[in-house]
Amino acid sequence: MRLSFSVVDASSLPVGRGRSAAAVVALPVEASADAATSADAPDTPSDAAVLRPTAWTLPEPLVTEVTHLLRDLRGAGGAGTVRHLPRPTRDPVHVLLYGTGDGGSRAWRDSGAALVRAADDRHTALAVALPDGATLDGPDAVATIAGELALGAWLAAYRFELPGRPARRTDEAEQPRLRRITLVTRADDVPAARQAVAEARVVAEAVMLARDLTNTPSAQKSPKWFADRVAQAAARRPGVTATVLDENDLAAGGFGGVLAVGQGSRRPPRFVELSWRPRGARTHVVLAGKGICFDTGGVSLKPLDGMRLMRKDMGAAAAVCAAVLAAADLALPVRVTALAPLAENLVSGSSMRPGDVIRHYGGTTTEVLDTDAEGRLVLGDALAYAVKRLRPDWLIDLATLTGASHVALGKQTAALFSESVELAEALRAAGTEVGEPVWPMPLPDDYVSLLHSDVADLANIARPSQAGSVTAALYLRELVGDHRNRWAHIDMSAPAWSDRDNGPLVKGATGWGVRLLVAFLRAVASGKAPTAASG
Ligand code: BES
Ligand code: MN
Ligand code: ZN
Repeated sequence: MRLSFSVVDASSLPVGRGRSAAAVVALPVEASADAATSADAPDTPSDAAVLRPTAWTLPEPLVTEVTHLLRDLRGAGGAGTVRHLPRPTRDPVHVLLYGTGDGGSRAWRDSGAALVRAADDRHTALAVALPDGATLDGPDAVATIAGELALGAWLAAYRFELPGRPARRTDEAEQPRLRRITLVTRADDVPAARQAVAEARVVAEAVMLARDLTNTPSAQKSPKWFADRVAQAAARRPGVTATVLDENDLAAGGFGGVLAVGQGSRRPPRFVELSWRPRGARTHVVLAGKGICFDTGGVSLKPLDGMRLMRKDMGAAAAVCAAVLAAADLALPVRVTALAPLAENLVSGSSMRPGDVIRHYGGTTTEVLDTDAEGRLVLGDALAYAVKRLRPDWLIDLATLTGASHVALGKQTAALFSESVELAEALRAAGTEVGEPVWPMPLPDDYVSLLHSDVADLANIARPSQAGSVTAALYLRELVGDHRNRWAHIDMSAPAWSDRDNGPLVKGATGWGVRLLVAFLRAVASGKAPTAASG
């Protein structure tokens, strides 16, 4: 990580009682309560801000200066807003004002992201004053703020770099300068804030790993390459094991879905099982992630516009693997297994054809009517394997499965399918907490008949075509057998990629799902989420 964080107590603030070092200091400002009450007075800006109480005494002239300035600044208290304070040039301290918004965790992540973007092109180091813990509710308030701010900053500072190659010729000049952020708080709050920043770092690293894997061009990203990256990450961690099945193992094990999708590529498929198994864990969560290293659609070829970004079609596999690594790094007392079926859906003389019949792990047969509905073919094997071999308490799959989920819910909400009310609620709560929202969708029994095939147990698309994300989920449900009430499916097609820099997101792969899964696993670990299915 290019950006480092430290937490120090207020006596180290480079501006204060008579001392002033050459530095950049960001001070928190909040929307003014007065301004809100005078909103109907026509000449008063309703969105004025005030300097937020701090644990240290700022020099009186600075407080006066900021207070005067804020009177004329509209919207300065909004989360993600950063203003540079005009200062006399002889003053060595450069002051930024950052809005703290509604003070919720999202606002602090947005603040961290905005500070990085505001400082990047000018400064190498930044001191960020946090609000005074004595003015906040709860003993962990400052720690929460520190963790969320650091997470937002790290995620916004992310850049994808092609391994082993020079960056674009212009990149040298565009490189972010910011290297170090120092969070400044009351001495009492320093230890808890340091701990929160350390945990945020684990999560940020997991998200960045998922982003790196997903951004990597598919020329490099073969199924074997992906499996090797995961195995390397596992080898560095005690308690984590990775098992990789190659094409021979897959044939011997009967993984007909993964093999069929992968058969058109010269680079054969893989199946990764990544496991974190701490002593004394009572709950076992299995996470399955679609790992299509590139999706051309196969013989049912995609048009160029739909294909261009299909290197992201393994984003779910990346997310589930990264979540297991984070669970290990956080030493969460939950057994977690990631399953990543990896294949390239290519067009060649050896590709699967429409009308072919495949046999999933466990024996369910499927008529392939559309080779572009390949995600359910690889995931079907993974789900059947999970149920038969691992018997998990909870089985959650993530997939960039259908364009239809984007149509239904847009760019920033994933589709959630589950027949377990408690699992659905735990996932919804986790997603809301971290800013990766999921929204429940139905699994109507009546639609299963749309997947009828004359020659196999199932067809891989619904006919007549309708409710694309729903019928895809129903297909998966057919493969979870007696684990129906322990299973959830999340279609993350749209949020896996961002078209623009947006808060903690950077244009490109988002690493979507890592933070939701870590929050869910944390909730399981702390007993907030259900520890085992009731039925
Ligand atoms: N990987 C795609 C889904 C997708 C589309 C993900 C856009 C991210 C962005 C998936 O394999 C696919 O092609 N789905 C088809 C299903 C159809 C053939 C039933 C789709 O959505 O069109
Ligand atoms: Mn496809
Ligand atoms: Zn796909």
